[in-house]
Amino acid sequence: MNVPSGRARYRPVIAALAAAVLAGAGAVAVGKAPAQAAETTLRAAAAKAGLFFGVAASPGRLSSIVSQEFGQLTPENDMKPDTIATSSGGLRNTGNADTLVNYAQTNNMLVRGHTLVWHSQAGQLQGTSQATLNTFIGNALTRWGSRIAYWDVVNEALDDNNNGRRRTQWPHSLSRDANGDGDFFDAGDTDVIRNSFRRAKEVVQQNNLNTKLCINDYDVEGLTVRGGARNNKAQALYDIVRAYTQGTERLIDCVGFQAHFNDNPNSVITDDLQANIQRFADLGVEVHITELDIDDDLSNNDIGQGQANNYRKVVRACLNVARCTGITVWGIADSESWRSSERGLLFTGGSGNYQKKAAYSAVLDELNKGRSGVNPSSPPVSPSASTSPSTPTDPSPCSATVSLNSWTGGFVATVRVTAGSSSINGWRVTAGLPTGAAVTNHWSAERTGASGTVQFANVGYNGPIATGQSTEFGFQGTGAADGTTLTCTAT
Ligand code: XIL
Repeated sequence: MNVPSGRARYRPVIAALAAAVLAGAGAVAVGKAPAQAAETTLRAAAAKAGLFFGVAASPGRLSSIVSQEFGQLTPENDMKPDTIATSSGGLRNTGNADTLVNYAQTNNMLVRGHTLVWHSQAGQLQGTSQATLNTFIGNALTRWGSRIAYWDVVNEALDDNNNGRRRTQWPHSLSRDANGDGDFFDAGDTDVIRNSFRRAKEVVQQNNLNTKLCINDYDVEGLTVRGGARNNKAQALYDIVRAYTQGTERLIDCVGFQAHFNDNPNSVITDDLQANIQRFADLGVEVHITELDIDDDLSNNDIGQGQANNYRKVVRACLNVARCTGITVWGIADSESWRSSERGLLFTGGSGNYQKKAAYSAVLDELNKGRSGVNPSSPPVSPSASTSPSTPTDPSPCSATVSLNSWTGGFVATVRVTAGSSSINGWRVTAGLPTGAAVTNHWSAERTGASGTVQFANVGYNGPIATGQSTEFGFQGTGAADGTTLTCTAT
């Protein structure tokens, strides 16, 4: 098997990190490691923390800074179908992509392939069938094989404006919702996402590749959007990833949050970014920040400390989730960005002559702090699964168990609600939180209260549970939640 050298370099770091955290399970040792000299490049600081820090580039942008500062490379445009696909799903014009892959390999960098199935920049594939998409997926995956660590198999599947729906244009027009229930997961449904991942997984398995298969989107970063409403696009992505990872097929290995943060109400940096990363990680997938840039509007046109603080928040949210294994910025310098007027990157200057911004120093500093307080996430290793039947004498209509991922000062709780000997139409879970614990966010449930006794009730779509089946909701909080008790009531 052809293991990309860059990848081989990172594995032991991540494994060592997980082992260290596991050893301290329960009370994670925070900040007790002996002080180490700070690294002076993003690449080295990230590697020490157990993740990659990458950049999007084109052959014309491969100045020395790329391999010095970055451990991972995403072709900004050169692997998109409009560049490399023929109308029958063959490959053409792969020279620039080859240049980038070769550069990465020479410099021990990981590569993210970007992107196979996308409504935009589709070129000669525009409007084609699933069969031709499958041909293209096979050709692209096998051309570079395990030299590509991660491929974005499906990009931007979800609609805008926080409506929580799939896009309707091609390639999503290939999907069919047979029973009209709004999802594409049922027997009889056709789903271009599932079919594309199935094909990609088949190619990976047949060719014994190491390549991991990712779904990538934007405006999915937070649990909420500006103003506190639920981020329905994030929820829709979560439902897709859950559907295709928790069943018999494990089709999706990784989730990319593009993270093009700007002043659109759905594109802002919310305080629940970490909780959202965590819940995806808890599905067992890697999470990546894949196309990071932060509009100067989000710092009142301040590209000094204001923007630097925003970068810190994003980097810290990833560092605090063990399975958040990489961050990629969408370009080197503001002037060369796809949205240059937003001045959203880490360097000024251009054409190989770059100057570090305050945001660069903030990211470096945050990476150098490492993953203090990180949790290893799923399969949950923290204890405290507790089940409280509501009536001890009768078989319970439902039960609830909690898996906690805790760090010093905070936690994420994932609660599984299971129907007993008969199906239920709705449920309420009463959580008794220890003194000092307070809920700050929650998902897939309605909540009453924040500390002490906190009530969670089903939302519309997850109320009905068949006999023996279960659903999950979650909440995030401050303080320590060990010892939380749960009681489930059918409603
Ligand atoms: C952008 C590139 O940066 C531009 O150069 C190009 O003109 C258009 O595409 N989401 C994605 C990326 O997944 O592929 C996009 O890249 C930015 C938004």
